[in-house]
Amino acid sequence: MVNHESARIIQVFDTTLRDGEQSPGCSMTLPEKLEVARRLERLRVDVLEAGFPASSPGDLASVKAIATLIKDCTVAGLCRALEKDIDAAREALIGAASPRIHIFLATSPIHMEYKLKMSPEQVLERAVAAVRYATQFCTDVEFSAEDAFRSDRDLVCRVFGEVIAAGATVVNAPDTVGYAMPEEFADFIRYIKTHTPNMEKARLSVHCHNDLGLAVANSLAAIGAGADQVECTVNGIGERAGNASLEEIVMGLRVRKDHLQAETRIDTTKIYTVSRLVSQVTGVKVQPHKAIVGDNAFAHEAGVHQHGVLANRATYEIMTPESVGIPQNRMVLGKHSGRHAFEERLRDLELSLHDALVEQVFHQFKVLADKKKVVSDRDIEALVIEASASAPETWKLDRWVVNCGSTLSSTSTIRLQHQDGAVAEQAAVGTGPIDAAFKAINRIIGKEPSLDAYELGAVTGGEDAQGQTLVKIGLNSRHWNGRGVSTDVVESSIKAYIAAINAMEWELAATPQP
Ligand code: KIV
Ligand code: ZN
Repeated sequence: MVNHESARIIQVFDTTLRDGEQSPGCSMTLPEKLEVARRLERLRVDVLEAGFPASSPGDLASVKAIATLIKDCTVAGLCRALEKDIDAAREALIGAASPRIHIFLATSPIHMEYKLKMSPEQVLERAVAAVRYATQFCTDVEFSAEDAFRSDRDLVCRVFGEVIAAGATVVNAPDTVGYAMPEEFADFIRYIKTHTPNMEKARLSVHCHNDLGLAVANSLAAIGAGADQVECTVNGIGERAGNASLEEIVMGLRVRKDHLQAETRIDTTKIYTVSRLVSQVTGVKVQPHKAIVGDNAFAHEAGVHQHGVLANRATYEIMTPESVGIPQNRMVLGKHSGRHAFEERLRDLELSLHDALVEQVFHQFKVLADKKKVVSDRDIEALVIEASASAPETWKLDRWVVNCGSTLSSTSTIRLQHQDGAVAEQAAVGTGPIDAAFKAINRIIGKEPSLDAYELGAVTGGEDAQGQTLVKIGLNSRHWNGRGVSTDVVESSIKAYIAAINAMEWELAATPQP
């Protein structure tokens, strides 16, 4: 019997901007993080973990900026169980409407012996001291027992009991290495819930990694066993095989509320746009068959399936694409579309833009519509993300010429305009047209960042598809992404490189190396 009345509310703790962002290839610039944070707030996550402030001046600055911007959910900053880390988190969270200090310390034998070189008693003492210290500055303190699942259960219960007595409001039991099986994890959570002293005074959270592909299954099993908070990331991005995917947990709870009798406050109709944004800004593609947000998640190819769906969608669909915000109205825009139709499409696509940017993006849309017959949703999405999540333009592309062929070396001449108005031009020879163009830009800016990744794709299919380039650059162990879109692939590459350079210039100016 379905009992919708008694469903528990599970808190969704999103760590896309911390555990997700810290994994290889997922770094984001500050404007990108701010845009993701805004979307997560609209998605109605309960807690948004914005970063690890003590890890770098850049991270501290971005947690600070997010904490000041976000008002409708709790903003958390991660720290080791060290006063200096807690001080950094406290400073970063000063502007937050609802701050949370999140402290972690490992409790498993292998982590205590080889990483921490501490005894269980020392870990217990350090955890309690850190939580006590943090409660002086923040009423909301979460303690995570890193690698809890591989730890001695009674030690986890003891540590949790004492940190709760010291003021922790949430205790988190991660499966840090994705080792658990669902029934085992449920049993573990039940044990923690029933054997931790003071457990009724705090929330019990879980945080599952996906090394065996079980992060979502383990998170749902833990909710069934009594966990009150679930930690997850958009598209499941994160260390190694990733974290539990937010969209899968949320839709699992929604579609099977009858079974788990638990729900979240998430506005599921915003899921798709957040997933697209995270994929666009990190450059990490969502696999086509990914549950909930993959391109094929609602596609019905087999004739017999199509027949069933046409007769009644519920034959092969357990949820509707509309329920996760996948746009159904396929209105196409072209050069005759006016501003009203354009804004309407932005609304349909949940691509809300700051008023000040609507005019600029509309103008870019008109320029594009002159080149392409049909401007697709993906084209519009690319324009919106470029406008809303890019760093200020220290450098702007003015002109470019590239020569290449099979017998001569490639050469390029690039002219850029600096934000102070000055123009600078340089020429270079390269192993190919892109290399020549990037070398000329390096000459202009007087820096030589490494080119860590370069990816060229198409925004849509078709002959007149726009080229979309993603570039990742690095300098002194810091990394930046840039995206560029153009009907010309060389131009999209140049634009992507300049976007990454602008992200670099802006962050280096804001947070120089210590
Ligand atoms: O995986 C993990 O254990 C973590 C903790 C810091 C919560 O990310
Ligand atoms: Zn983690």
